[in-house]
Amino acid sequence: MNVLSLKEYDGKWIESVVDLGLDIKKHPEKYTEALKHKTLAMVFQKSSTRTRLSFETGMTKLGGHGIFIDWRTTQLAIGGVQDEAKVISRYADAIMVRPLKHVTVAEFGKASRVPVINGLCEKYHPCQALADAMTIKEKKGKLKGTKVVYLGIANNVSNSLSVACARTGADFTLCTPERDPDSLDEEQLKGLRAMQNYHEESNIDKAVKGADILYTDTWVNMEFFTDPKFESEKKRREKTLMPYQLNKALLEKAGPQAFSMHDMPAHIGYEIDEYALRSQRSLAFDQAENRMWAQMALLIKLTGKS
Ligand code: CP
Repeated sequence: MNVLSLKEYDGKWIESVVDLGLDIKKHPEKYTEALKHKTLAMVFQKSSTRTRLSFETGMTKLGGHGIFIDWRTTQLAIGGVQDEAKVISRYADAIMVRPLKHVTVAEFGKASRVPVINGLCEKYHPCQALADAMTIKEKKGKLKGTKVVYLGIANNVSNSLSVACARTGADFTLCTPERDPDSLDEEQLKGLRAMQNYHEESNIDKAVKGADILYTDTWVNMEFFTDPKFESEKKRREKTLMPYQLNKALLEKAGPQAFSMHDMPAHIGYEIDEYALRSQRSLAFDQAENRMWAQMALLIKLTGKS
């Protein structure tokens, strides 16, 4: 059983991970041996703070162990994914991969004899979406009917968040003037557009009114952020996307029930302002913490006894 995106899973399964995550957070002492002697191999082709630390500490709390594997200091580039992934799966009980391209984690999934988890590619961020759904349920008490609005650029994060929300019965609105072209999954989008609780709205005021959650993400993916070749595209995006900035004014427009969310790292003054990221109305730091609890739930579901 792999988790390459979230579209393979129904709302019941997604919410069962969320509920287990909430229970682990509340009663961590019940789970200290849930993955005793198990090993998670964590393969990174890109940088990370949250994903690496949340998986590694999560494994420790469950009685297991996480091993960090840097693409550049292993034989992955020389040996190729097909054989190296097969080898890694002979040692580990699960593999988490943060690849540059989705095709790489999919190849891991085919080669591995243990579960493979996507730790963020250009199309999906399923672990983030599970943590976000957990954070929404933790704060609002439920997912069903909770009004979630995603602002900015449609991308890997909005792809997985929209599936997690729509399939668990939340009311999801995508309020974006454009999509990161690398993130397009036409089949998933078609499925979402057929659902009554999935909406696309270009009018920002209309989209945010009455929202429980306003969510945003970086306008430029991490691998391009400091790339001089991406500089003019970055400037163009900043101009187009500035009206969609998640800020204090937008939270006030949404109403007193609204909270802001961001998967981080955040860029203050661009997709979010300081108030929306750091005030009492922000759930960003809860989201970051909940990466750990939600992934512990996911690892138990995939490799242990629940
Ligand atoms: N949100 C997220 O995936 O953070 P990292 O890039 O730090 O892992």
